[in-house]
Amino acid sequence: MFLAEHGFEVTGVDFAAPVIEKARQKANTAGADVQFVVDDLTNLRKVNGKYDFLVDYGTVDDLGQIDRDLYVQNVVPLTHPGSRYLLWCFEWPQRWWERFVLFEQAFVPGEAQRRFGEHLEIERIAGTYTPKMRSWMAGFAAYLMTRRGGDVVGLGHQRFRRQRVG
Ligand SMILES: C[S@@+](CC[C@H](N)C(=O)[O-])C[C@H]1O[C@@H](n2cnc3c(N)ncnc32)[C@H](O)[C@@H]1O
Repeated sequence: MFLAEHGFEVTGVDFAAPVIEKARQKANTAGADVQFVVDDLTNLRKVNGKYDFLVDYGTVDDLGQIDRDLYVQNVVPLTHPGSRYLLWCFEWPQRWWERFVLFEQAFVPGEAQRRFGEHLEIERIAGTYTPKMRSWMAGFAAYLMTRRGGDVVGLGHQRFRRQRVG
């Protein structure tokens, strides 16, 4: 909504219809012109094309490891050379016991680079430098990425090879 109010043409995506409905109501109340779409960021069916600016506030780190791979395969093709991508995620080094939990894990340091670095230049613009490892949510990071030149066709080809585990 902030971006729409500042001149961007905005598409908001979530796979949960109630979340989209709530966001739509909020945007209507605020008079913000946003196109909301129910779609799965690990298997996009409706959202396509190229975007100048993408924002992820706490979604990719909500996914399991395989879905994170699929997310990258679906989202990076939405960029063009020069597109910016802002990611806010929970991030801290994995604690020993987190290997055994079933819920999704925070990003680990270096994961953003490993996942996005092939196609995007990455700058860590904010975050926790000394994670509070005794806190449940030990830290966060914000990355501003810029798509490099070259195509990402190879990623697009894998977009619909979706395999879920569990
Ligand atoms: C932690 S919440 C963050 C929500 C929002 N960014 C905010 O700031 O309030 C994660 C959101 O990601 C959505 N989500 C999770 N997996 C998704 C997927 N595969 N495709 C699209 N949305 C997804 C959830 O429905 C949820 O609304």
